[in-house]
Amino acid sequence: MKRAFLLCFALILILFSGCSSSTNNENIKIDKTFTIDELSTYNGKNGNSAYISVDGIVYDVTNVSQWKNGMHNGFEAGKDLTDEIKTISPHGISKLKGIPVVGKLVE
Ligand code: HEM
Repeated sequence: MKRAFLLCFALILILFSGCSSSTNNENIKIDKTFTIDELSTYNGKNGNSAYISVDGIVYDVTNVSQWKNGMHNGFEAGKDLTDEIKTISPHGISKLKGIPVVGKLVE
């Protein structure tokens, strides 16, 4: 009886740990894909949304105050900014935490 109880408890623990999704952008399940050409239309101009891509993930920065009109410190939305965020920005990829993911960049 005690063993059965312990077994159930262990099972519940396993189930719960499988459900706890990370607050970061790991385990991306979004199916939408963008080519670099498609991404370029999301430049934050003329009412378009502002998307940027880093490490193959496309982020929506439309409502990020630092990305007003798709511009941020001279950088434009609608582009893959992997190298720029890693080598030029002072903050690195840490600023991507919590920014909505809208898809993946494909060839
Ligand atoms: C994706 C590519 C990105 C690039 C290339 C980039 C580049 C830069 C650069 C060059 C600066 C320094 C500006 C200066 O000299 O004063 C900066 C600062 C800053 N960026 Fe970005 N950035 C990017 C993404 C983001 C994102 C997604 C956010 C979202 C919140 C963000 C928020 C900030 C903030 C708050 C600062 C002020 C300094 C700091 O807090 O570290 N950036 N960025």
